[in-house]
Amino acid sequence: MQSISMTSPDDWHLHLRDGAILSAVLPHTVNQFRRAVVMPNLPRPVTSIADALCYRERIIQRIQPGREFQPLMTLYLTDATTPELVKEASKTDCIIGFKLYPAGATTNSSSGVSDPDRIYYLYEALEKLDVPLLIHAEVTDPQIDIFDREKAFISRHLAEIVRNFPKLRIVLEHATTEDAVQFVEDCSPRVAATLTPQHLLYNRNILFSGGIRPHHYCLPVLKRERHRKALLRAATSGNPKFFLGTDSAPHSISQKESACGCAGCFTAHAALELYAEAFERVGAIEYLEGFASFYGPDFYRLPRNTDRVTLQQKNWTIPESYPLGNESIVPLGAGQQLRWTFSGRES
Ligand code: NCD
Ligand code: ZN
Repeated sequence: MQSISMTSPDDWHLHLRDGAILSAVLPHTVNQFRRAVVMPNLPRPVTSIADALCYRERIIQRIQPGREFQPLMTLYLTDATTPELVKEASKTDCIIGFKLYPAGATTNSSSGVSDPDRIYYLYEALEKLDVPLLIHAEVTDPQIDIFDREKAFISRHLAEIVRNFPKLRIVLEHATTEDAVQFVEDCSPRVAATLTPQHLLYNRNILFSGGIRPHHYCLPVLKRERHRKALLRAATSGNPKFFLGTDSAPHSISQKESACGCAGCFTAHAALELYAEAFERVGAIEYLEGFASFYGPDFYRLPRNTDRVTLQQKNWTIPESYPLGNESIVPLGAGQQLRWTFSGRES
């Protein structure tokens, strides 16, 4: 049987939620990843160091005994964030960066930044203290077509931020367009992007295949095929600016199958296998290790993991659902067959 042995991977963009949902989803991530960057968009956002440390504690308490997993915490930028907080965060080891959500861009983003051009004093502090800035790069202007919002964010805001703060380390989170790929490629190495499995595997047709498909709806929304191809090219190019960030974003069945369903795909159940599928389809499985296990820690200046995991070429069918507190969740690819099976850590 064909198998792949690779350095243990990390997830550089993850939503873990809290309470019973956290308990239900965390084991999936801990099973495959050694570290994860935990997004701060809880219903009450993680805006202070104390919030982040308490949230980190709640995560750590739920790690199964005998498992090693490091949550890397982020703080949620608001109009009220101060340069002093940036300074304090820069001295706190377990806080890895600040997340910029334009207000209203996505789930639990209403307390986000109302105008990304008016917080230059924060970019200045982040740059000076060398704290990474993680960006949900979409404009919220309702005049802009939803499929163009990432491109518009880059031209309206990001290009100027990058120009003005030449040392600021930036991650364009969950890049979804060829414009984002091109932009990141053209920047210096201190600008990177995470890529999700769904944006590498699907284009927007899946959203309407035979009916409306809420479990494939996430933000930024899936784009045209040419964008998917550009993302997959970037992911499999060996360019260290592009690395793994699942954006696994759990919402219960009832939150998804609704007249106004939430944005987010749950991918933690089969994260590595989904990426392996996408890479293998373009004959580039040998590029998976760099993307999943090297370029993320290199960008964040953390050590690469030293242990290893194995994937085996063995078909399995993704379950229709997993338990989620009192409810259940439909994972990405529910009922579909995958060619690769994660067979755990090598001892
Ligand atoms: C995320 C969520 O549900 O928290 N949803 C999503 O569609 N990706 C938020 C986000 O990362 O935009
Ligand atoms: Zn996200």
